[in-house]
Amino acid sequence: MTTHDITLTVNGTAHDLTVESRTLLVHALRDDLGHTGTNVGCETSMCGACTVLVDDEAVKSCTLLAVACDGSEVQTVESLVDGGELHPLQEAFAQEHGLQCGFCTPGMLMTSLDLLAHDSDPSREEIREALEGNLCRCTGYQNIVNAVESAAQTMRAATDGGDRGGD
Ligand code: FES
Ligand code: FES
Repeated sequence: MTTHDITLTVNGTAHDLTVESRTLLVHALRDDLGHTGTNVGCETSMCGACTVLVDDEAVKSCTLLAVACDGSEVQTVESLVDGGELHPLQEAFAQEHGLQCGFCTPGMLMTSLDLLAHDSDPSREEIREALEGNLCRCTGYQNIVNAVESAAQTMRAATDGGDRGGD
């Protein structure tokens, strides 16, 4: 069994770990580092439940070998809560009933985070396109789109308020 010593920075903390050649990023995150907020569903790149950000890009962590991520910055759903405060996306998913069983939610949140980092005011169509690789068996998607739209509004308002405050 070939192993590799790698470093992953997860949610701002650097971790040295030893992984097998075949270890998937999602398993390194969950099993080696205890970040179980990232769900693992299909393991075939279909469902999006395992989505995290790697070097600021949303990726399905079941499609990446951990060894290929050596030296990368990874952001998981656990990073969204800040000092006990939910992220606006989390608030919006709760308010707009964007989840039921919650299995898809970590991936939905991280894909949405990536979308809003690149486009602060996406159309409903753009939200649907961004989330097309994330499957939800419960909600019918409408409330998820509502939630992302609502979070985008909240985040824009916060940015505008911050800009005014800095004047
Ligand atoms: S578990 Fe990765 S896409 Fe389904
Ligand atoms: S809330 Fe159950 S799969 Fe999406």
